[in-house]
Amino acid sequence: MKRFVEPDDFPASRKCVYLNAASVALMYGGAKRAVVEWQEDLAENGTIHFDEAAEESVFENLHVAAAGLFHAHPDDIAVASSASELMCSLAWALVPGRETNVVSTGVTFPSTLYPWSRVARHTGCEIRLARGRGGYVDPDELVELIDDRTAVVAVCHVEFSTGQTYDLARLVEACHSRGALLVVDATQSAGAVPLDVRATAVDAVVTAGYKWLCGPFGVGVLYLAPHLQGRLDPGLVGWRSHKEMWDLPADRLEFPGTARRFEFSTIAYGCAIGLARSVEYLLGLGVDRICAHNRRLADLLARGLRERGAEIIASEGGGERSSIVAARFPGKKESSAVAKYLNDAGIVVSGRRGFVRFSPHLYNEAADIEESLACIEAALA
Ligand SMILES: Cc1ncc(COP(=O)(O)O)c(C=O)c1O
Repeated sequence: MKRFVEPDDFPASRKCVYLNAASVALMYGGAKRAVVEWQEDLAENGTIHFDEAAEESVFENLHVAAAGLFHAHPDDIAVASSASELMCSLAWALVPGRETNVVSTGVTFPSTLYPWSRVARHTGCEIRLARGRGGYVDPDELVELIDDRTAVVAVCHVEFSTGQTYDLARLVEACHSRGALLVVDATQSAGAVPLDVRATAVDAVVTAGYKWLCGPFGVGVLYLAPHLQGRLDPGLVGWRSHKEMWDLPADRLEFPGTARRFEFSTIAYGCAIGLARSVEYLLGLGVDRICAHNRRLADLLARGLRERGAEIIASEGGGERSSIVAARFPGKKESSAVAKYLNDAGIVVSGRRGFVRFSPHLYNEAADIEESLACIEAALA
């Protein structure tokens, strides 16, 4: 049967059953080549090749690719070294004050929340968390925390430990009707779950590049809605922040009128070039198709896990599904022991917060899931 992608695009997929995109995905081969070529060229030719014009325009391909991914305009995109960095810069740009609150979940990834908690220590704004039960957060609980004093709701599109997926349109409606902004961490969805910022009207999105986007470490992307672009002073600034970056004025800082104002320094630029390649590759396949492929695998896995007595979070049908399946085996075996057994057998998964987290992606096929289920059966025996 024809595979969804050519194994040559992900050579490591031949070596093992890799179900760990939620931690670090296998990198698209074209992205790896671009990163390595750029580093080699810089090492050997310095600014002879990577001159000022090249440095100024180095993010252009990624601006275009990320805009394609989110259905945005290239001017809405900024590039930096990580998702955490961009979330920090955004939190200090929005800097919610004493009389306001920031809403999130108690199960979110630390980088989605820490920047706001850090700002809260400084300004005294209140942090409100939907705690959920057993790892699952009822979206009603989240929405009920939003009130007229909410400045920002900062959530993951897909929760990193359970794969629970939030209905962003519903959250946007709850936020905007109260005058709050919706800031989304799409690190666990971008590249695997469609996200149309124009249709959902989210205010900002950050994502890392090394998970579902199949890019390298060292690069993250921000989408900033046009209505915020002219009025935010980024929390992180540096020589690249000035609108004419090669003017280098020390006594003046005028930001560009676009999301690019959040780009502030050198980064490992080859990583941005590599990420542009992998996003272009994913767009060529179609994120809708990748999502459907991954869900077929996740459904197959969830069904097989349940048949083997597993308890699964947020994996019932409907909109709360993602490519992540989080399972535990009550009364049978500790999740950490199951995760270790699988990894020792060459089935790469993570243990997270008491679950075994499986995260199949486009380079996996049904045979990988069948092999994993057989191995789980052996682990539980
Ligand atoms: C939801 C989420 N956001 C952010 C990150 C970290 O991103 P970065 O390493 O680019 O700061 C992770 C990593 O697991 C994550 O799951």
